[in-house]
Amino acid sequence: MEGETIRWEDDTGEVSLLDQTALPARVRRIRCRDVERLAEAIRRLEIRGAPALGVAGAYGVALAAARSREQDLEPFLADVSDAAELLRSTRPTAVNLSWGIDRVLLKVQAARSIAECRRVALAEAKAVAAEDALICRRIGDHGASLLPDRGTVLTHCNAGALATSEWGTALGVIRSAVAAGKEIRVLACETRPLLQGARLTAWELARDGIPVTVIVDSAAASLMQAGEVDCVIVGADRITRDAVFNKVGTYMHAVCARHHGIPFYVAAPRSTLDPGSTAAGVVVEERAREEVSRFGSRQVVPDAAGVRNPAFDATPFPLVSAIITEDGIHRPPFDTLGRAAGRSQR
Ligand code: MRU
Repeated sequence: MEGETIRWEDDTGEVSLLDQTALPARVRRIRCRDVERLAEAIRRLEIRGAPALGVAGAYGVALAAARSREQDLEPFLADVSDAAELLRSTRPTAVNLSWGIDRVLLKVQAARSIAECRRVALAEAKAVAAEDALICRRIGDHGASLLPDRGTVLTHCNAGALATSEWGTALGVIRSAVAAGKEIRVLACETRPLLQGARLTAWELARDGIPVTVIVDSAAASLMQAGEVDCVIVGADRITRDAVFNKVGTYMHAVCARHHGIPFYVAAPRSTLDPGSTAAGVVVEERAREEVSRFGSRQVVPDAAGVRNPAFDATPFPLVSAIITEDGIHRPPFDTLGRAAGRSQR
């Protein structure tokens, strides 16, 4: 549904989000009046998923421009630029966040008055959101041919409507395949520790009437071994020259899929491409201990034990069967991705 995940409220000049930490138990919205609240929402994962973070970053700069009290252009621009850096600092791995921020910042910096800055910032942010929805449809249309009819597709984390403006990337491909008449069952890995698969992927697919079954992450290998998985499809947070960064656990599925001869697909917009980097140079977000050491209100790790909580991992290109962008299907050795990335800079 358009604007459900994130939208600009024209009447109040606020950014409105569907609170993804409350799903599936409660469907409630959060209204961000200022950049500080939006930055907090990103940190807490009230809004999450790479393309949705791009939209949030874009709206965040528009929000900063709308809220700044500076009367002269120079301090106004400094104010907006500080807000942009605050937003950028919230999550380091998904490249879309910076991409969305910079797209709007560039328009603001080229404007000649405060009023013009505000106008172009909001127009560009709305364009980022609208384009993302169209891009997801294109990704879906390209990728649908890869999915089997009457097959089972395994996915990890949430790369759906909740992670984008609408439709989704990996789940967009599944939606497009279903819309084209294919019968598809989805295995949603729960995605420890924050359960984006169990809470979010299952919620949105069930709502669409697409058959979905939740499994614990560690069941994926044995189900592949038993012949119960026809292909794997996931989204991405950053695609470097040599690897796909996505939610931690993705690499494990790619290794298992290769071992069992199962295709492993990635669906992502061009704005996720980062061909100037290699996997070694990417900062992987390490999140709070409590996300692992507690399960709801219950402590599940003794105080004396250490905890590691990396939020993402890198799947090397040799394990990836295809990457689907809005341009089409890219196959190993992914030489065509560089040209696609060039187009996303325009
Ligand atoms: O920590 P999250 O929930 O923001 O992680 C999200 C993912 O890893 C998604 O798979 C990725 O952003 C692709 S979303 C289309």
